[in-house]
Order: sequence, then C-alpha cells, then structure tokens
Amino acid sequence: MIDAIKAAADDVYPEVVALRRALHRHPELSGEEDETARRVADWLEDLGLDVHTGVYGTGVVATLEGGEPGPTLLLRADMDALPIREDTGLDFASANEGVMHACGHDLHTASLLGTATILAAHREQVHGQLRLCFQPHEERIPGGAKFMIEHGVLDAANGMPAPEAAFGQHVKPDLPPGTLGVRPGGFMASTDEVYVTVQGTGGHAADPHQAVDPVYVASEIVGALQSIVSRRCPPGVPSVLTIGRLVADGATNVIPDTARLEGTFRAMDEEWRFRAHGLIRQLVRRTAEAHGATAEVEVREGYPVLHNDETTTALVQKAAREYVGPERMVDADRWFAGEDFAYILQKCPGTFYQLGVGSEHGLHTAQFDPDEAALRTGAGFMAYLAWRYGRARAQGG
Ligand code: NI
Repeated sequence: MIDAIKAAADDVYPEVVALRRALHRHPELSGEEDETARRVADWLEDLGLDVHTGVYGTGVVATLEGGEPGPTLLLRADMDALPIREDTGLDFASANEGVMHACGHDLHTASLLGTATILAAHREQVHGQLRLCFQPHEERIPGGAKFMIEHGVLDAANGMPAPEAAFGQHVKPDLPPGTLGVRPGGFMASTDEVYVTVQGTGGHAADPHQAVDPVYVASEIVGALQSIVSRRCPPGVPSVLTIGRLVADGATNVIPDTARLEGTFRAMDEEWRFRAHGLIRQLVRRTAEAHGATAEVEVREGYPVLHNDETTTALVQKAAREYVGPERMVDADRWFAGEDFAYILQKCPGTFYQLGVGSEHGLHTAQFDPDEAALRTGAGFMAYLAWRYGRARAQGG
C-alpha cells in the first residue's frame, strides 16, 4: 500500500501545486475564506464525497468512507492568510493587496485535498471513515477550531462514530523539504495576551516628587514581570513572557498620566499557565501600589497548550519512518508558536506534526517562500498515516 500511495501522491502532485498557487494568489483573511472554501468544496465534490459547507462560517467538512470497517479519523487543515504585504516576487504572488499566505495555510489546504484524492482512489482499502476538516480563522483569537468543535466536528454524525483520533500538520521553514518533525507530549505553547494600564499623576518633568511617574512604574513592572518566569515558574516548565509594546505619551519635559504595556505570555503546561495569570495580576498591581500608582491588568486567553497524545504520536513516528525513511523523520523541538488545533487535541487524542518546507525566510514574514516539493510528502504522508492508523486499529492495535 505504501508504494500505491506514493505513486498516487506523485500523480496528484501537479494538481496540488496548481491549487496551492491559486490559493496563494487569492489569500483571504481569518473569517473571510469564501473563495478558498468554494475551491475546497468543488474539489471534494469532484471526488464524490459527502460535503458540508458553512460549518462555522466558511468551514468545510467532508466524509470519505472506506471500504473496510474501522474507526473515524479527523484530518484537519486551516485556510486563512495574514495581513502582510507579500514581497516574494513570485509570479503567483498575492493579488490581494496587503494579504498573504505567510503561514503556509495554502499548503495545508492543498495538501489535505491531495490526501483526499489519494485516499478516494484507494477507498476500498481504507479502514473506517475520514472526516476531512477545512477550518477557517486559525490566525486570530478566539480561533476557528473552537467553534468547529461547537458545530460538531468531534461528534458522532450520519451514523458514524465520533473521531477517535485527529491529525494535522504545519509547515516548518527550517526543516528540509519533505522532512517530518514529530514530538510527543507538550509541543506548542499556550498564547495569552497581557495588557496593563498604569495610572499615575502627570506633571512637570522637573518636579517628579509632585507627580506619580507612570513611565518609571511601567519600567519597574517590565523588570518585575521577568521574575514570574525566572523565580515563580517551576524549573522544567518552559515558559516565556515578553512585553513588546510600551507606550507613554509624555515628552522630554512632561510626565504623562498613564503608561500602557502589552505583551505575550506563553507556557507548555496548563496548570502553571493559569496559576501564572494570578501571579501576573498580583505582581503588576502590587508593583504599581508600591510606587503610589495603580494598575489595571487584563490577561486575554489565547490558545491552550498543544498536547500530542503519546500513543497516536508513536504511530505517527512509526509511519513517518516507514514513509519518508528514518533519516527524514526528526524529533521536533518545542515550538512556542500558538495553534488552535490545540482545542481539538484537548478533546480528542491525536498528533500535530511539522512538514519541512526549507524556506530561508520564516513564517509570518513577507518573503516566506516554501519549497513546493514538500507537498508530495505533505499529501502522501497524511494519506499513508490515515490508512496505517485505520489498519492498525482494525487489526486490534
Ligand atoms: Ni499557521
């Protein structure tokens, strides 16, 4: 079967590349993936699959029934692009001014459609059924995955049991094209946003004793917050707190009334994550109080920690060694980016893995230019994984 899938992946590759270029040329922002969803639905309907559109806005869900009994699996791709002005010079560069597929979701979508084509051609050998989920709105909190779950993508439907495992992939620029990066356990970080407003009392810069300087207090808070990671976080729990924005609109001779801080807090452990929220609030308020100011703190919850199930991940590693060879299956490092597939993996065991695309420029940059050759592996491996999982379960594994 592995050779049949590889041959089918080679056959569909030109079409997958053409589709990826079409998607790349017409990127759409989170929640606006209308054209993309139409292309996805057309492709799936051409394969003769049962297709549902409009699942949480532009989401598309299709079912592929295998010829052999077996479990239900969820395979997911995301469809949205970013508000970035493309600067790649490619002849299929974005025609939508200021919007770019700079996170590779065009590759994820094209790849999963390729997977659907490969498996549809070998439907009789597929054990169980596949729920193919094309998800909108990954790039922005609160995340489309959360709402697709509310719309039932993890539930039993049409006489089919609920998915017992879920798989997704993300392109990775610093891995060679066609390499697979896999990591069991905590893989991607929770991504919460921290907003602080320090309220002081403005005044003449020459008379700080008659004012409460919010700029000084904000600086103290930036420093103090680092103790959350260095002194309060248990050693061994990876965690990051970065303040990326500090705004105080005074002047060389003016102490302003307020200062504003914005940043991100990321962690690899849910228990620590929520404990840290309380510590952040307390530390900010008390640091402000210590200097005679007050502070308002808001911690806006982003995506949870993405946790790869040990059992399904062991199968992904095994299948990856079989499909791309042990030398092209690498142990992925922890990744401090956020990913809303984490919501799906909170409810359903599964694995999110990396597909190397060898781009000199990183994700979310205007020059991101992945090597399309990776799509051969992207589409083929997920097809093999789905078939392999179904067969293992059908044999009682
Ligand atoms: Ni992404």
